[in-house]
Amino acid sequence: MNITYLDTADELVERAAALIADGIQASVSERGRCLVALSGGNTPKPVYERLTRAPYGPELPWDKTVVFFGDERMVPCDNPESNFRMACDALLDHVSIPPWNVHRVAGEMQADVAAEWYARQLAEVAGDDGPPRFDLMLLGLGPDGHTASLFPGTDALENVKNLAVHLAESSEGAEHAQDRVTVTYPVINASRRVLFLVAGADKAEALQRVRDGDLSAPAARVNPVDGSLEWLVVKG
Ligand code: 6PG
Repeated sequence: MNITYLDTADELVERAAALIADGIQASVSERGRCLVALSGGNTPKPVYERLTRAPYGPELPWDKTVVFFGDERMVPCDNPESNFRMACDALLDHVSIPPWNVHRVAGEMQADVAAEWYARQLAEVAGDDGPPRFDLMLLGLGPDGHTASLFPGTDALENVKNLAVHLAESSEGAEHAQDRVTVTYPVINASRRVLFLVAGADKAEALQRVRDGDLSAPAARVNPVDGSLEWLVVKG
């Protein structure tokens, strides 16, 4: 595993922002666009905020950057729990990305319908034969080993048919307290580049399980077929 350990959260922010910016520019140069899936949760928020400031911000080709989300909580987009709202507050409302380049999960809709509609957007916009090939897939790691909203013990882990699926609300701890929609492994593992951003001592055990190849940790099953897999981890 390509893991880079960093001493502080600020170092992760700087390193992640640089990697993401380089990835956007390289994808646009090579393929005319960058198809990126943003992660939710807390860790990526300061990274997204950093991307609004020099030397990034207006220097990046936002008009050629197409944004999806690895997962979403099934809440209205103005709800503080919404990953879309977090990304807008931190990044998307502060750069010149055309609104038609941003594809959110309709968290206000009935979850199964929202999942189906999101899967259709993934297929249409990506335009690839088979799963969409994200140029950059950002992911996080939960203390239980989940990533995106691929939670342990859920049917979503075995779903190789749909590009996106709905997970019903579960009593399994606060991590999965809402209905969610998530992309599936075929989408994640078709990515050209997967970048995990991990911070928090509560992730150490889950990260060790991933490093040990313990497939009961959903993040351990992220393995791009023809792409790179990188981890930025804040020590401690
Ligand atoms: C979400 C994320 C989820 C997140 C991990 C880590 O919607 O919450 O997609 O998979 O990446 O739970 O979250 P933190 O970065 O907040 O620790």
